[in-house]
Amino acid sequence: MSQIQPPAQSVSSQDWAHERGQKWCDQLAAMEATLDPVDAPLIDALDLDRPLRIAEIGCGGGGTLLKLLRHAQAGSSVHGIDISPALADRARARIARHEADAAIHVANAESAAAPEGPYDRLISRFGIMFFDDPQAAFSNLSSWLAPGGQIAFAVWGPPPQNPWMTSLREAVSQVMDVPDPDPDAPGPFRYAGGDKLLGLLKEAGLRDLNIRDWRGLIPLGGGVPPEPAVDFAFNAFSLGDLLVEADEAVTEEVRQRLTQCYAAHVQDGGVHMEACVHIVTGARSA
Ligand SMILES: C[S@@+](CC[C@H](N)C(=O)[O-])C[C@H]1O[C@@H](n2cnc3c(N)ncnc32)[C@H](O)[C@@H]1O
Repeated sequence: MSQIQPPAQSVSSQDWAHERGQKWCDQLAAMEATLDPVDAPLIDALDLDRPLRIAEIGCGGGGTLLKLLRHAQAGSSVHGIDISPALADRARARIARHEADAAIHVANAESAAAPEGPYDRLISRFGIMFFDDPQAAFSNLSSWLAPGGQIAFAVWGPPPQNPWMTSLREAVSQVMDVPDPDPDAPGPFRYAGGDKLLGLLKEAGLRDLNIRDWRGLIPLGGGVPPEPAVDFAFNAFSLGDLLVEADEAVTEEVRQRLTQCYAAHVQDGGVHMEACVHIVTGARSA
């Protein structure tokens, strides 16, 4: 079995501020098309029943923000916050034509004061899993909320229930040694258990905390056939970085194994695989 130097086993907010943010930006359309099914259950988890001040944490290139603008009542303000200047620029360009009160701020949500707060609603699609000091970060975000303000945060559920993400790791581990990721490190499965996140939010002063799971099919790369889905996976997941340094035969073997795995999950011509997302809701005391 090949042995090569593993990539960093975690992705931190600082990575997002630089290379990781740029990488996400470079494949924004495919990333957003992949994550699109999560938006409806996430936005539904918030009461948007009147004009509200809404902030999206880790808004990335703005896909969810555009949908929030459509769902928010007239008179609402919708602000995106992201640590990556590259992604913030993309989001800003996309909201430019909106007449609603929309704005994008480059800020570290872990420590920055609420850019134009306080907010009535905080929402995040996979943007709260990368903080260096989660307790400090959630206390800070709690302070962004007006009394009675609500949150809805989406984080990934357990790895075995997210084969759309873990199948690359499985294919790689069949041809080279890959260390197990640290479950507590910043990264996609940091809150897979759910309870850890609930504890942090409770400690940050939030109440009425609840987790509801969304389970459904994720269209890889937006629902492309197996071979381009493999290219998508190599680019999208940090484990794909490992293959850049592997020799060609190793990369080819991973490619073949993953293509075979994806071929078993084709619907309507594209790869669709199971996913589980925790949608966590809660509120600040009135
Ligand atoms: C997995 S991406 C999700 C992007 C977007 N929400 C989406 O679903 O398309 C995580 C996002 O969180 C942002 N992020 C990570 N740490 C952050 C922090 N401390 N403050 C603000 N944004 C952060 C990243 O720059 C990135 O845009």
